[in-house]
Amino acid sequence: MTPLVLGFDIGGSLIKCAVVDITTGQTRTEPIQVPLPQPATPTAVFAELRAALGREKWHGPVGVGYPGVVKNGFTLTGAHLDRSFIGLNWLDDLRKLTAQPVALINDADAAGLAEIRFGAARIFAAPDAGTVLLVTLGTGIGSALFHGGRLLPNTEFGHMLMGEREAEQWAAGSVRIRENLDWPAYGARVGRFLREMEKLVSPDLIVVGGGVSENFALFGPHIDIGCATVPAELGNRAGLIGAALAVTEE
Ligand code: BGC
Repeated sequence: MTPLVLGFDIGGSLIKCAVVDITTGQTRTEPIQVPLPQPATPTAVFAELRAALGREKWHGPVGVGYPGVVKNGFTLTGAHLDRSFIGLNWLDDLRKLTAQPVALINDADAAGLAEIRFGAARIFAAPDAGTVLLVTLGTGIGSALFHGGRLLPNTEFGHMLMGEREAEQWAAGSVRIRENLDWPAYGARVGRFLREMEKLVSPDLIVVGGGVSENFALFGPHIDIGCATVPAELGNRAGLIGAALAVTEE
């Protein structure tokens, strides 16, 4: 198979895509981003993906990161998308994009795959490696859990209840902006969430991803936990790189 895959990352407000060399994890084209259509129905999002393939003149394999639970090609949740995604075999539709292999994977799981193969968690890729937790702090909170380099998909820790609110309604990157939190206050919230996670899964490393991780230096020092906690290395590209990598997992 060609090592080049078109990777998509469908987020809460944008769709990003780029051609990825899956042998190196490098993007081969400058990532392009378009607004997520509103309402974000399966047909409207599919049309955006097809338009991107047209723009890139792309006929090769495609990997798609989706912001919700994905099982066997079915999109089972999607808090920031139109309800008509729920219970849909969207992979069947996506296969109409190209005659080449197509993968559909949760967006945070995709970012985790990219970070464990090529980024901040790469020393945890071996079969005898410990537990890595990646969280993405964006519109929502996504999570990816690895042990021995293997992914346990669809962990959805962002929906854990913290008091009355789900963690993602309390510590997502979007909440920092909405509630106008300063960096220390935001770091303290992320720390409280990660302390709960630490109790539950005893990670050896926590990787913090999502748009806000670019500012890790500002809020990271306020995350008060025992486990080593580092920012994602692949930044905003991790999701689309990992979605491309997922094609080889099919
Ligand atoms: C979804 C997750 C997703 C995360 C980040 C959450 O609302 O349930 O599946 O990974 O947002 O997009």
